[in-house]
Amino acid sequence: MDVCLGLLGCGTVGSGVIELTRRRREKIFELTGLRPKITKVLVRNLQKPRQVALADERLTADPEDILGDADIRVVIETIGGIEPARTLILRALAAGKHVVTANKDLIAAHGPEILEAAERHGVDVWYEAAVGGAIPLIRPLKECLTANEITDIKGIINGTTNYILSKMTATGAGFAEALAEAQALGYAEADPSSDVDGLDAARKLAILASIAFHAKVRLEDIRVTGIRHITAADVAYADELGMVIKLLAVGADRDGLLSLRVGPALVPKDHPLAHVNGSYNALLMRGDAAGDLMFFGRGAGSMPTASAVVGDVIEVLRNLKLGVTGQAALLCRPDKRVLPDGFDPVRYYMRLSVDDRPGVLARIAAAFGDAEVSMESVLQKRAYEGRAEIVILTHEVPYGQVERVAAALRSLAAVHEVHCVMPVEPAADGGVT
Ligand SMILES: NC(=O)c1ccc[n+]([C@@H]2O[C@H](COP(=O)([O-])OP(=O)(O)OC[C@H]3O[C@@H](n4cnc5c(N)ncnc54)[C@H](OP(=O)(O)O)[C@@H]3O)[C@@H](O)[C@H]2O)c1
Repeated sequence: MDVCLGLLGCGTVGSGVIELTRRRREKIFELTGLRPKITKVLVRNLQKPRQVALADERLTADPEDILGDADIRVVIETIGGIEPARTLILRALAAGKHVVTANKDLIAAHGPEILEAAERHGVDVWYEAAVGGAIPLIRPLKECLTANEITDIKGIINGTTNYILSKMTATGAGFAEALAEAQALGYAEADPSSDVDGLDAARKLAILASIAFHAKVRLEDIRVTGIRHITAADVAYADELGMVIKLLAVGADRDGLLSLRVGPALVPKDHPLAHVNGSYNALLMRGDAAGDLMFFGRGAGSMPTASAVVGDVIEVLRNLKLGVTGQAALLCRPDKRVLPDGFDPVRYYMRLSVDDRPGVLARIAAAFGDAEVSMESVLQKRAYEGRAEIVILTHEVPYGQVERVAAALRSLAAVHEVHCVMPVEPAADGGVT
């Protein structure tokens, strides 16, 4: 028996979904007893050339052709952004259609509204592709790992920044040069802000942490720092210290108190995340029963993302066949609290430029002493035009205290700039932390 699907959007992901659905049609029939058939595809511009030849699938620019078609049981959303995706999904759910979406922006900002609408209308919403492209993350958290209390998630979940930082590490290029190359190769958008300012990773962390910790995590709960201020000098000092710089998304749950951050961090070269390069993504998780787990793979791209979307479609078809759709149970504990400053103290890296004259180091040391932050090591680096560059590693300290010391340093006349403050990941003990 055929099941009609409506596809919203036919760009990078949508065309991969058409291609993979065709390729796996008979296998899906063997698995589910149902044959998926994409009958209508919504686009903005009917004249635009498509990356995939359209046969059965009829292009339309009118959403009613999909939302008002009673034969269409499943709607796949690959438009992206908030509107019109949100309205179209809510209308599909209200019309009793199951929804599969790859839209992280939407799920991060309006996930609860969409999931509640699905529950109300007795239909399902699946969104595996929203985080980590091809890498299974959401279903493992929602299904395979539910016997655990997940205490930590930590990973590289933005391919663009990982490509840029990997390039800077491999070639010594500066941020602007590496970004320009990423844009030329199609790894970064013309407006790269969402990626390089850490927001894309923060949206994905909000989705993952909500599921892993059974909490309603909002974007504003996450402390976010991007990578624009990372220079070739920081990358070189990290290398000297036996580390690489990575944009990490880190979430932890300690007895109901959550700590959530996205930002660049120094990662020891023998840490599993140090070897995740280019456009790859990886996520480490720790469960109280499972122990440490690592997920690795392609975080974006037409077919990798289609792999997750079509996997979700197959799940919908299987449930349709078994008559068990609309039963997704959401567990959300309202008592979880977010600590803005985090609670797991870590070491920090700081790079300052200061006056190159006697007594300056003593003043810096005093500022650290006043903020009760102790220094593990101080390296005086290049001196030029009467200024010296100083790299400091602190002992383990909570984030709030590092902020205080950075503010105190900025107020010293001898300190010209505090260029960079980054956490240093603990050495891997074979596991997550
Ligand atoms: N690209 C990836 O590797 C990747 C990975 C994971 C998740 N995702 C997510 O997947 C989604 C799609 O990404 P994408 O890269 O495939 O985007 P894309 O290439 O820009 O494609 C978007 C598609 O949506 C259509 N569209 C846009 N606005 C529309 C509107 N108002 N009405 C009707 N159609 C509209 C466009 O139509 P036209 O073609 O006519 O312009 C286009 O076909 C996003 O949520 C993204 O975050 C993408």
